[in-house]
Amino acid sequence: MISQNTIDTVFETARVEEVIGDFVNLKRAGSNFKGLSPFSDERSPSFMVSPAKGIWKDFSTGKGGNSVKFLMEHSQFTYPEAIRYLARKYNIEIEETEQTDAEKAITDVRESMYLVSEFAAKYFNDTLLNSEEGKAIGLSYFKERGFTNETIKKFNLGYSPETWDALTKEALGKGYKLEFLESTGLTIAREDRPFDRFKGRVMFPIQSMSGRVLGFGGRILTNDKKAAKYLNSPESDIYHKSKVLYGIFQAKQSIAKQNNCYLVEGYTDVIQFNQAGIENVVASSGTALTPDQIRLINRLTRNITVLFDGDAAGLRASIRGIDLILEEGMNVRVCAFPDGEDPDSFARKNSHDDLVAYLENNSKDFIQFKASILMGEAKNDPIKKADLIRDMVASISKIPDRIQREVYIQECARIMDISEQVLVSTLAQLIQKDIAEANKKQKQEQKPFQVYKNQNLNTGYSGGDPEDPRNGPPEDYYPVESGYSVQQQADKVDILYRLERKVIEILLLYGDKTEEFEDVLLKNNEEGEVVMVTEKKEYKVFQRIYLSLQEDEVELSNTLFRDIFKDLIDFYLQNEKFSLEQYLMRLQPEFAQEVTDILMEDERLTLHNWEGQNIFTKAKHETIAQYVTETVMSMRWFLVGKIIEELKSSIKPDNSDNTELLSMVMDYSGLVNSFSKKLGRVMSRYH
Ligand code: CTP
Ligand code: MN
Repeated sequence: MISQNTIDTVFETARVEEVIGDFVNLKRAGSNFKGLSPFSDERSPSFMVSPAKGIWKDFSTGKGGNSVKFLMEHSQFTYPEAIRYLARKYNIEIEETEQTDAEKAITDVRESMYLVSEFAAKYFNDTLLNSEEGKAIGLSYFKERGFTNETIKKFNLGYSPETWDALTKEALGKGYKLEFLESTGLTIAREDRPFDRFKGRVMFPIQSMSGRVLGFGGRILTNDKKAAKYLNSPESDIYHKSKVLYGIFQAKQSIAKQNNCYLVEGYTDVIQFNQAGIENVVASSGTALTPDQIRLINRLTRNITVLFDGDAAGLRASIRGIDLILEEGMNVRVCAFPDGEDPDSFARKNSHDDLVAYLENNSKDFIQFKASILMGEAKNDPIKKADLIRDMVASISKIPDRIQREVYIQECARIMDISEQVLVSTLAQLIQKDIAEANKKQKQEQKPFQVYKNQNLNTGYSGGDPEDPRNGPPEDYYPVESGYSVQQQADKVDILYRLERKVIEILLLYGDKTEEFEDVLLKNNEEGEVVMVTEKKEYKVFQRIYLSLQEDEVELSNTLFRDIFKDLIDFYLQNEKFSLEQYLMRLQPEFAQEVTDILMEDERLTLHNWEGQNIFTKAKHETIAQYVTETVMSMRWFLVGKIIEELKSSIKPDNSDNTELLSMVMDYSGLVNSFSKKLGRVMSRYH
């Protein structure tokens, strides 16, 4: 685990505009920055970064948050991966905590292996670009293949010198241990004479999703028939061939954005596609596709397009991969290249536009594809044709979704010219075993019930800022009355939603401000009578809100707001001097979207350059105290109204034992009346 200390340092150091600036071209806009959303294809910028608040908001998708949340959304990092990334970016040493000795030993070993791999990648790259031998042999080879400097940099390509222990010597000299050089396979130690595995090869570092170097592929440059053309790092504690996809680090954003992933065979295919401007491409590199690799893609998209060479050899292997992809519930398309071409050679020979057009025109769904390929083989042989049909139905049976299966059955029937009924019964046999499991999977995918929220308030009132609760609904609105229409019910949910949202906004913006509030107290006057007195007293805004809600034992009705409310109150209680910036730094990913929505509302308007015209300068509130009181009172009014309704609805008509319920209704109704008195002026705005 990363220590809290390290996490704090990372948050204090990271500047949101610097972190995002590495990925998005940001332009200054007043006190903020704006740019094109990295989450959608757009022409006019709707992506805002607020350096002052340390947050960003993408108005095209609604996403938003702090630096860490950006890395999680944009680069598909997990929370710890994002922290580690930032620590590396800002040269912050990572402190690990609370591991058992055994865990520590494992982490230390793995970390040492990562470090030596990263060192090796840097050494190979440096040798390629700066040494005479590297330039003459390695670099000129890559140039011959048509790789640009930019491409070489992007994939961190390298060269391992034609000396038997160049890397090993360099690494040992820099203090890296032989033990880790060996366990990563960079060095082979035989009889006290350690030598480099990749001597005289051009190097392709293999990176994890988050960019760490896990291993290498090295291509030989001589025509030595006995030596393997490509040599790969052996399996190790950090490199598991079956769980890695070459190019995933460079491809992940594009895969998510394009909502599709091209799957190719090798390093050079991935690189050449990137250079041709297609970045959503990865390679299974050397091994047959595995379920783990498919799941890696599944984190980013549900669509895979398998690409392969024109020759028949790679074809069989791709066909096996298709069923695995279908089993993961993903959609698979297939695209073959002309005879004698592989994705690498084809991408090199054709322009970007031609390549894109080719992929578009030649990608087939797997049924069409299997039919077209295998038909060639089956032709007029009825036995082979029957095998082929069974093969297709077997693939279809892997699809978890029933509707999709039916669509494919229809297509298969059409293409193979056979009755649907036969196919359906064959399919039924095949999926009998799987069906229970498939049902389970579908159930898991069902979304939990969501609270109805009316987006388009339609109560007939007009004018003013619709987000401001003070511009309330019509006069006849009264929450305690029963027998609402559906529309009224919806409006009520909506108003309560907005009031609760206002409370969160107030807590965020003014929570630590000290303000003077009026308290109504019962006191004995000089004549000994009990009278109501208003007294002015100072409170912190957050205390005032917290205490008012405690008074009637109500909670916010929206569960997300309730959680944010608790989180904010806790933060205020624990931090003597509240700083919004600090709160936002530590903002929990689940809250990020809503909180940034609230805080960046004003910024949205500046996107359209309306700020100069003062159209949206709203006079929000006379004083903060008044604003707080009005909002909180109104919300309490609604919440208490809700409680009364619930109580009323649980009163049984057979009038058995309703006394307690009725007295509670009376109590709460009294509370509502006292609100009305206290807030007569204000309440009329709402009700
Ligand atoms: N490959 C591999 N191991 C091999 C051969 C190939 O991993 N023994 C992978 C590599 O990732 C390579 C891809 O398959 O990028 C394509 O193979 P191939 O065309 O043989 O490699 P190239 O380097 O393109 O060689 P050539 O210049 O002869 O086409
Ligand atoms: Mn090739």
